[in-house]
Amino acid sequence: MSSDKNIFVSKVGAILAAAGSAVGLGNVWRFPTETGTNGGAAFLLIYVFFMLLLAMPIMVTEFVIGRHGGSDVTDSFLKMSGGRKGWKWMGLLPVVSGFLVLSYYSVVAGWTLHYAFEALMNGFAGKTSDEFTADFAAFSSDSLMPVCWTALIIAMTCGIVALGVQRGIERGSKIMMPLLFVFILVLVVCSLSLPNASLGLQFLFQPDFSKVTGSVILSAMGQAFFSLSVGLGCLCTYACYFRKDVDLMKDGINVASIDTLVALLSGLIIFPAVYSIQGLQPDAGPSLVFVTLPNVFQQVFGGIPVLAYLFSLIFYLLLVMAALTSSISMLEMSVAYFHKNLHLSRPLAAVLVSVVCMFLATFCSWSFGDWKDVTLFGMGFFDLFDFLVAKLIMPVGGMLMCIFLGWVVDEKVFRAEMTNNGTLRSPLYPTFRFIIRYLAPLCIFLIFANELGLFNFFTEA
Ligand code: PHE
Repeated sequence: MSSDKNIFVSKVGAILAAAGSAVGLGNVWRFPTETGTNGGAAFLLIYVFFMLLLAMPIMVTEFVIGRHGGSDVTDSFLKMSGGRKGWKWMGLLPVVSGFLVLSYYSVVAGWTLHYAFEALMNGFAGKTSDEFTADFAAFSSDSLMPVCWTALIIAMTCGIVALGVQRGIERGSKIMMPLLFVFILVLVVCSLSLPNASLGLQFLFQPDFSKVTGSVILSAMGQAFFSLSVGLGCLCTYACYFRKDVDLMKDGINVASIDTLVALLSGLIIFPAVYSIQGLQPDAGPSLVFVTLPNVFQQVFGGIPVLAYLFSLIFYLLLVMAALTSSISMLEMSVAYFHKNLHLSRPLAAVLVSVVCMFLATFCSWSFGDWKDVTLFGMGFFDLFDFLVAKLIMPVGGMLMCIFLGWVVDEKVFRAEMTNNGTLRSPLYPTFRFIIRYLAPLCIFLIFANELGLFNFFTEA
């Protein structure tokens, strides 16, 4: 699998591919949604804290395991476990979670593609805020259209993965990511210039700690993991394509910084706009971003229709691309496994996984419409998949990876990967090792224990 063809040719390619997986709808859609429903600033602070303490170190942990193992997750864990065979079961983590995460992520990516199409057809022109809200409700609850857009996204993802890692992923990320960043910056400036923008800033930056409950903490942890794509073995799978001279720690810090910045900037677009547009609420849930953004385009550029048209079209296209670089990494997790372990060709593995995901995605999409009342553990399919991935599998997976690297893997291997065999100074290594061995696993354990009611640091509201 780590044949030359698949090694990222440049160091920048490695960063960009990891950043491409990290930056996506998790930042632009899920972050504002979660921040809005969890009360704003206090959630944001806890999220940033978890980003530093948990998600970023676990990202580097995945890099270390992936690059040293040099193979798919099963083999990497087996190779580094010093004969403790039980760890090979970690290989199932990316396979199972790959299916789950792609199945619901592709629904939101499908919505994004639909909005890009609407932008292309000039469908936003002259609409009011109420119309945008009604349009989204009608579209997302339809039983056919969202499923078709989702199918298109899955087909595109499948096509790129079948073509192979390097060609598909590296090239795309290099051009789109910086462009998306520029567009987001422009939108932040526009959004901040809207009336009542300061109320949005207050919501985002003035913490009200009385709103912090156990579930807010769990959500903030889930968002940090989801946003960086960590805890599932996705980045392990990528890191086996990394060159030996990539500075894993530096890359981890860079990717986490870019990712957090994009999330923050998305918040700076959405919340000022929410408070300036009549009828919108920060806790609207999954519809928040899809209703707010078209409003922003109309309000800001409405006077110059060509500008509104071009800007919204390019923005949505970039967002689709960002979603694709993430969904590619999701599909890659399962495809790498089937390719390696069942000896299926990459294209065949990609097609098989995609077909199964399409089935599951249909159920997720219907949970916004006809299947609204079909619930399991009190949640519709979409919410259930999201819960399982972000609030259960990612933190548990992350904790196991920390225990593995901190306690099972030989310290010499750990140090050698962090310092590139002694050629790099890595002054943060001791701190980092301390976090991986003690702080991160303990913190994740305590958050779960609190949720399970073993003690009550933060009671539910
Ligand atoms: N981090 C990605 C995003 O923000 C989502 C993702 C989750 C990608 C898990 C891969 C694995 O959109």
